[in-house]
Amino acid sequence: MTTAIVGAGGQLGRALTARLPDAVALYRADLDITDPAAVGSHDWSGVDVLINAAASTDVDGAETPEGRVVAWAANATAVAHLAAAANTHRMTLVHISSEYVFDGTVTDPIVEETPLCPLSCYGAAKAAGEIAATLAARHLVVRTTWVMGDGDNFVRTMLGLAARGVSPTVVDDQIGRPTFADDLAAGIVALLGAPSGVYHLTNTGEPASWADITRATFTLAGRDPADVTGTTTAAYFADKPHAARRPLNSVLDLTKAAAAGVTLPPWRESLAAYVKLELGR
Ligand SMILES: NC(=O)c1ccc[n+]([C@@H]2O[C@H](COP(=O)([O-])OP(=O)(O)OC[C@H]3O[C@@H](n4cnc5c(N)ncnc54)[C@H](OP(=O)(O)O)[C@@H]3O)[C@@H](O)[C@H]2O)c1
Repeated sequence: MTTAIVGAGGQLGRALTARLPDAVALYRADLDITDPAAVGSHDWSGVDVLINAAASTDVDGAETPEGRVVAWAANATAVAHLAAAANTHRMTLVHISSEYVFDGTVTDPIVEETPLCPLSCYGAAKAAGEIAATLAARHLVVRTTWVMGDGDNFVRTMLGLAARGVSPTVVDDQIGRPTFADDLAAGIVALLGAPSGVYHLTNTGEPASWADITRATFTLAGRDPADVTGTTTAAYFADKPHAARRPLNSVLDLTKAAAAGVTLPPWRESLAAYVKLELGR
């Protein structure tokens, strides 16, 4: 089986490329997925599986007039170009999405069939991208949450604050699970044979708030977790009127992927390994 990975330079793209060393890794400089002519004329011959790890992930930037255009081009329209290529070349399209396609108002873990109901421009574009991905005859749409890998991410930022002696105030009413890019990449590879459809895939373990994750990170970094103060989303964003609205419940139900034989490790285990690696850099 030959796999191509678009968005190979991102957090997930790097993890997938490391896990699939024989895959064709396409960086943005190799293929801009928003360019329909480039996607259409790319040499896909011999490729069976096309994994789309590319996205515009600037959630707040997507609320600006310029950012909205970028978000829709990369996260929605481009996915239609990839789906068309997948159909022409008989590839399975694996597309990565986000729990931001939901408003997070349900209190239980969110199941795959929940109606799309995004709060933000990023979420709306990701929702449109999912719909575009399902136009590929064979497709897997993998929704995930709170990705931590080799790139700018929340845990890296908190480690920086911990090292600089900062005692941060962090939102404690958004609940979810961090997902480590290496685990997610392994899970996606393990799902490849599953029937077409939407799958939720995050690390497992007790759901936690951003403040809980910061306290766990601080502890692992040798700081006192009591140095982390919790606050509400409303209070945190009170002076950031242009920030994107975030779902309060980001907890995805993982039963369907588990039934397909794919369960990721508990997030606290992967956080410990991640922090160890980051502190050793
Ligand atoms: N990060 C999260 O917390 C999170 C949460 C839930 C779901 N997700 C989803 O998970 C997937 C992977 O996210 P990630 O954290 O790995 O994202 P990331 O680190 O921001 O990487 C995205 C990659 O896509 C590339 N890209 C952007 N526009 C492109 C274009 N037009 N053509 C080709 N490549 C392009 C970027 O290139 P440049 O570096 O040149 O911009 C970057 O390498 C995305 O679908 C994202 O929506 C992420």
